[in-house]
Parts: sequence; C-alpha cells; structure tokens
Amino acid sequence: MTARAETLPIEIVPTGFALGAEIRGIDVRRKLSAEVGEALREAWKQHLVLLFRGQTGLNDEELIAFTRVFGPLQDAPNSEVTAGFGSFSDVPPEVTIISNIEVDGKQIGALGAGEADWHTDMSFIDEPPAGSCLYAIEIPPAGGNTSFTNMHRALDTLEEETVSAVKDARCVHDESLTSTGAQRQGVPPVTDVRETPGARHPVLRTHPDTGRKALFLGRRRNAWLIDFDVEESERLLDRLWTHAADESHVWEHRWREGDIVLWDNRAVMHRREPFAPTTRRLMHRTQVAGGRPY
Ligand code: SIN
Repeated sequence: MTARAETLPIEIVPTGFALGAEIRGIDVRRKLSAEVGEALREAWKQHLVLLFRGQTGLNDEELIAFTRVFGPLQDAPNSEVTAGFGSFSDVPPEVTIISNIEVDGKQIGALGAGEADWHTDMSFIDEPPAGSCLYAIEIPPAGGNTSFTNMHRALDTLEEETVSAVKDARCVHDESLTSTGAQRQGVPPVTDVRETPGARHPVLRTHPDTGRKALFLGRRRNAWLIDFDVEESERLLDRLWTHAADESHVWEHRWREGDIVLWDNRAVMHRREPFAPTTRRLMHRTQVAGGRPY
C-alpha cells in the first residue's frame, strides 16, 4: 500500500515483504523541510529499511548531511581502519568505503567481492550504530544484492521454549573477524569461544524509539552465550540464527546506481551476496550513532 501525506511531497511505498519501504518524490541533496524529516524518521521506525532511488552524483558531504536527518553520525571504528579498510582513500571519517576495487594493488574499501554473512554493523563495539546508510556509486552487472531480516518479527515468531532459554542471556559479538570472515589486523584468532573478544550484548534488546523487543544476534562466528555450556550455547545459537534468517522475515534489495538504503541496526540484520571479483562495486556508507543496547 502506498501512503502519501496530504501536504507532503513524498510517497512511502512498502516493499510488500517483512520490512522495507521505498521513499519516492525526494531529492536528498535539497534541504528537507522539518515535516519531511519527521515523516522520514516515522517511516524508518515503521519500515526499518528505507530505499531512495535515483540519487546519482551525491558527494560525501551531501551523504553526511542527509544521514544527519536520522541522528548524529558515528565514525568508522578504528579496527576497520587498522585492517586497511578505507585507509587508502581520502574520505571524511564519517564515511566507510565498501568496495572490492584495488588501486596500486591495495583495496580501497572493506568486504571485497565475497559473501558478507548475516550481521549487524559494528556490533562488536559497546555502542554500535543505530543505523547504516549505504550509497551505491558503482554496481556490478550481477550479484552483490543485499538482504535484510526483521529481528522484531524474528523474535515475535520464535517458539516460547527458545525465548525463555535466552531471554536473560548475553552474547559476545566477535571483533576478530569481519562479516566476510577475514581476520582483523591486530586481533588474534579465536580458539575458544569463551575467550572471544568483543562487546557483550543482551540477546533480546529493546528499541529505544519504539519500545519494541528484537532479537540481537550480531554475528554468528565465534559467538558465545555468556556462562552457558559451549554445547548448549551452540545449539541455541544455531536455532536462533536459522530462525532469524528464515525467508519469511527477509527482503532482498537489488541495487541500482544512485540508490541509498538506510537500515536500522537495532532491529535489522543484513547480508551481502558475492559478486564476480573481476567486476566493480563501490559504495559509501555512513553510520547513525547509537547507544548501548539494553
Ligand atoms: C555492509 O555490510 O555494511 C555492506 C553491505 C553491502 O555491501 O551491501
């Protein structure tokens, strides 16, 4: 169903899947009125992922200014920079480059061309970003689609037995590996999940703007439910991850150049499918600052 506020020039078109809506009638380079800003924040609360098509030619300052409509920004974490991601290009600290492109034999951005497993951006830090805003500058001819899963819905549809087993649990979110499984520089490999480095967050979190509960899983590799027997932790995590990735909670986005997609890390996980490394993909990402999950 399409919604158009009487006095506003924007149209909100839900994807028809478990989350996501396209916002039409907007040029994000223009200064948005207070009413449009408010309508966008409301749409973000409701749909969790917003798509803005046709925003070609945006520069980093314009992307940053647009992201600020949704809150103050958060810089890329040092651990990504020290891994060589985004450190070879001249971009503002608020911008993370996601790309497989190499210049003089060095990657200009993060994640390469491989599959990025389901994850929540930067969940390995104590205060992960509330949102991520990804802008498509170059898109490969095939592959590289990004999928989103609704973690409110995942929790709401989880069987009671598993909910009660994890309702007070905390989980460690591994900082040693990226979402493609690459080792971050300066962080030793994990040999025992009970020693996984990274933030410890509640498995059930509360969305600070809506009060709704969501599953918060972050990243599967090297995860451990704190104080659980490792075998039991693995069993429960496998169950939670299988359920969270069920296609009934998912919307897959097929990119076009000029797309901006903004997602809510407090209620959404995402994954990126691989694409041919001989083709080019260039995205710039900004992060909306977040607080400590509770
Ligand atoms: C990310 O995980 O933030 C990037 C997703 C993508 O490359 O589509």
